[in-house]
Amino acid sequence: MKTISTFAEYQSEYKKSVETPELFWAEHAETFTWKKKWDKVLDWNFVDLNIKWFDGGTLNITENCLDRHLETQPNQTAIIFEANDPNEPVRKITYKELHTEVCKFANVLLSNGAKKGDRICIYMPMVPEAAVAMLACARIGAIHNVVFGGFSANSLVDRINDSAVNILITSDGSFRGNKQIGLKEIADEALKLTPSVKTTIVLKRTGQTVNMLAGRDKWYHEEMQNVAATHIAAEVNAEDELFILYTSGSTGKPKGVVHTTAGYMVFAEYSFRNVFQYRHKPSPNGEGMGEAPIFWCTADVGWITGHTYIVYGPLLAGATTLMFEGIPTYPDAGRFWHAIDKHKVNIFYTAPTAIRSLMAMGDEFPAKYKMDSLQILGSVGEPINEEAWHWYHEKIGHGNCPICDTYWQTETGGFLISPLANIGKDKPAHAGFPLPGIQTILVDSEGKVLEGNGVEGNLCIKFPWPSAIRTTYGDHERCKQTYFSTYKGLYFTGDGAKRDTDGYYRILGRVDDVMNVSGHRIGTAEVENAINEHPAVVESAVVGYPHDIKGQGIYAYVICDKAIADENETRKEILAVITKVIGPIAKPDKIQFVKGLPKTRSGKIMRRILRKIAEGEVSNLGDTSTLLDPAVVEDIKIGAEKLR
Ligand code: WTA
Repeated sequence: MKTISTFAEYQSEYKKSVETPELFWAEHAETFTWKKKWDKVLDWNFVDLNIKWFDGGTLNITENCLDRHLETQPNQTAIIFEANDPNEPVRKITYKELHTEVCKFANVLLSNGAKKGDRICIYMPMVPEAAVAMLACARIGAIHNVVFGGFSANSLVDRINDSAVNILITSDGSFRGNKQIGLKEIADEALKLTPSVKTTIVLKRTGQTVNMLAGRDKWYHEEMQNVAATHIAAEVNAEDELFILYTSGSTGKPKGVVHTTAGYMVFAEYSFRNVFQYRHKPSPNGEGMGEAPIFWCTADVGWITGHTYIVYGPLLAGATTLMFEGIPTYPDAGRFWHAIDKHKVNIFYTAPTAIRSLMAMGDEFPAKYKMDSLQILGSVGEPINEEAWHWYHEKIGHGNCPICDTYWQTETGGFLISPLANIGKDKPAHAGFPLPGIQTILVDSEGKVLEGNGVEGNLCIKFPWPSAIRTTYGDHERCKQTYFSTYKGLYFTGDGAKRDTDGYYRILGRVDDVMNVSGHRIGTAEVENAINEHPAVVESAVVGYPHDIKGQGIYAYVICDKAIADENETRKEILAVITKVIGPIAKPDKIQFVKGLPKTRSGKIMRRILRKIAEGEVSNLGDTSTLLDPAVVEDIKIGAEKLR
């Protein structure tokens, strides 16, 4: 695949991608293995919402992730596994071995009745078998639905039932720092309410005791013993669904973002190679491929970052991708830096929230390590503030590594805006320029396009890119409404952004009711619904507020039906309800009990006021005269002061 290596090349490629998009993407698509070439590069309509890339083509993405590398670099390490316990032996899996594992597990799925088009749920720790499971689904043409291992049984139920999953792949438990989490136990709880699941396949990871229901639950290692080691990849259509990934929005339950096969594949490899300037080293004897740089993305496979930049992007590019099971602070706050030296990591990709929390632990941790293998750094999940950017640049990159501040979303499948490493154009706290193929524009609240530089508005995309969301599972209308109806004919990201006088984009954050807490997307409505399940709660309103480490914290205003005897006790109960309904990531940082909420005469909660109070900006609350009862604001202000 042809890649960009200078800014001038970037500019000409961008121009080409806008002027002749079909030609541009066809050239990149040519570099992949197809079973049958496409008939038409692109067919699209943002009003009825219909996006088709490479229609008529057939392929299997795993032939591109695995089989095609067997000729050139069978013994190259595909996955390095660094376990939670630093003393546990490292596992290195070559492309040849990974291919065999995936073929075997594809056969396991088939022998358990899986068929093309089935939805298969993966609820696993960060172990190579999670990647094997994803790839095996893709190999047989089934659709994977990965659920982050930190979600509760309830969340798992919703995500399984919404897409009528028939097989669940999980593990006995997972290791997270000094904790052990019983994933199978949580899954058992969920399985009481998921009639569509007929089979569970359980990986033995922690060795803890689990219940195995005869006829339904099977051990991964036992199943793998009885199958052939070869499998011919299923032929799937370019627009067949590859995966569903649930994500939060401003209303209702999380929705299943659907990505399809060929477009996602092309953009995953293209964006990975270009942003991280991923290139194999020259081969010492001039034959075959040279060594692959070591790439480490610290995300979890349960999020889009894990899908595109731990599994698909790197494997498509024949890279070596590191999977880390643990957490950044175990056994101490030097764990990332230790692992960078241990594995001679060349490209390191993490989140601002991790950087800020490690920065707060002190410079002595990174100072203990050389980290001289590092060449490129990356950041994702939220805007990176300048202080964290500089710390990352100096203490981790030793001033030598560019930082790719990659801006994108679950819905976009891959990077939208990011500096391309080493082309000398990164500016602290700016995501920079759109990737070729990404036609970003800013609009004002009426949808008027803001031309030129030095403008600020809502960030939209006006032309399809290959890895764009195709639909939300089972509800096409919702997808149209959520992303393509605010501004007719445009995809709306939900983010505000500024294009500075030099043309660099700076992302300003969500303009809708979605919070970004430690890089996790959480809908305010989702948290409110969970809080309202507590029997004493009458109503609640949740807003995000600036938080030093998490980026945003969660602030909940709660009305109870009677005076509460012990506020702290009720707070604890509410937190327990949220952990049960969603998972610990959605626990509010602050819960304030209030008698009323600021509502308009039509009953709409004025979140603007609640946000300001949560931020501590009480002096200028703006116009409150349209409120049904302006006095509640005074009460809330007094209560908020006590919580500080
Ligand atoms: C935010 C994660 C600023 C943004 C890949 C977006 C960012 C949401 C950045 C998507 C960044 C992600 N700079 N903001 N580099 N990266 N965001 O779906 O608000 O979990 O809309 O995808 O995260 O979150 P999601």
